[in-house]
Amino acid sequence: MGTDSAAANTFRPTLAEDPDRFASAWRDRFPILENTTYLVTHSLGAMPRAVADKLAVFVDQWATRGVRAWAEGWWDAPVRIGNMLAKILHAPEGTVAMHQNVSVIQSIVASALDFSGPRRKVVYTDQNFPTNMYVWEGTKRYGAEIEVVKSRDGVGVELEDLLNAIDERTLIVPISHVFFRSAFVQDAKAICKRAREVGALVLLDTYQSVGTVPVDVIDLGVDMVCGGSVKWLCGGPGAAYLYVRPGLLETFEPRITGWAAHRAPFAFDLGPQKYASGAWRLLQGSPAVPSLYAATAGYEIVLDVGVERIRAHSMRLTETLRKDLLNRGFRIPSPSDPARRGGMLTVGLAPSEHGPAFVAALAQQGFLVDHRPEAGLRVSPHFYTRASELAEFAECLAQLRSTGKWKDFATDTRSY
Ligand SMILES: Cc1ncc(COP(=O)(O)O)c(C=O)c1O
Repeated sequence: MGTDSAAANTFRPTLAEDPDRFASAWRDRFPILENTTYLVTHSLGAMPRAVADKLAVFVDQWATRGVRAWAEGWWDAPVRIGNMLAKILHAPEGTVAMHQNVSVIQSIVASALDFSGPRRKVVYTDQNFPTNMYVWEGTKRYGAEIEVVKSRDGVGVELEDLLNAIDERTLIVPISHVFFRSAFVQDAKAICKRAREVGALVLLDTYQSVGTVPVDVIDLGVDMVCGGSVKWLCGGPGAAYLYVRPGLLETFEPRITGWAAHRAPFAFDLGPQKYASGAWRLLQGSPAVPSLYAATAGYEIVLDVGVERIRAHSMRLTETLRKDLLNRGFRIPSPSDPARRGGMLTVGLAPSEHGPAFVAALAQQGFLVDHRPEAGLRVSPHFYTRASELAEFAECLAQLRSTGKWKDFATDTRSY
């Protein structure tokens, strides 16, 4: 433990410490850790116990305050709670608005753009999360031209290939910071620099980074950032964030809009939209208050632990696991350089092996992971994971392979 006076008040373990002690400081805040080895945060973060209290506040407001609740925290929730995300993103206050999910956010951003001029190219990679591709493919009907930069190895994308695709005809580059399949970390700063030089915008999907890899929107020089709270933020579904940088925000006019984005919503004006200022202008209608309230439990813990410390813990644990699995004869497609790898590790399986069966067999023994086609098993520690849990996981996985016991689960085909 540190020797400073702050340490005397609250337990603040340092990274010089045993990782199991570091994890132990937070574990009792997550009920599911009592009976599972939770290695699937890249898909769904463990629920903080405090979510129940946050939802109880919502229930109590509705029950006892009724319609007055709108003025007592419901109406401004998307911007007020967006400010918590702004802290995690190192963004200025009033630049982040909360929405339902990333798919909707991509559509909102696309709806603010004009694809009818000479600058109409949309550049992204084939490692984007597919939902983003579905949205941008749809912009072709408004005149957009799509250029998809392909991965050479199915793990990362060569920076040079992406930079070469971004030119004076590029309108926007909607890309992932960390790839969902391999955990490859893109050089977002270099991509934003190139985009700025040629006058293109970057929309960075930080779903797989924020909460486990530090993100500083000012340092990156990024125009827009989006992501959700389901994974590393431990905030649950229905609470996605959109950051738009000052300078761009003031002129941003999405066609996907509504009365919450109006500068005087309760004047009920007729006619065209008169956009509000700041993050308010990014909204549409009544917010999903329960989801937003629930998510704050996760944000509070992530802010408390600190993303720099989460990253250090995560790099240490994923690196130990990677070496352990390599020694046991497994193939690890995720990048070998910890700096180029997010919070997750992928474990390659042989063509004769069945990923969902391994997931089910592991779950039966209390280890929760998942599987994705072309990725393999995906495994991730978070700040609440002990090194010893990963060692036990590696042993269990090796046993399942050597005994062939995973075949007993070969009828399981789904992996969420
Ligand atoms: C990088 C990335 N973007 C987006 C999503 C999902 O987006 P949505 O919030 O629309 O469900 C995921 C989910 O796995 C993801 O990993």
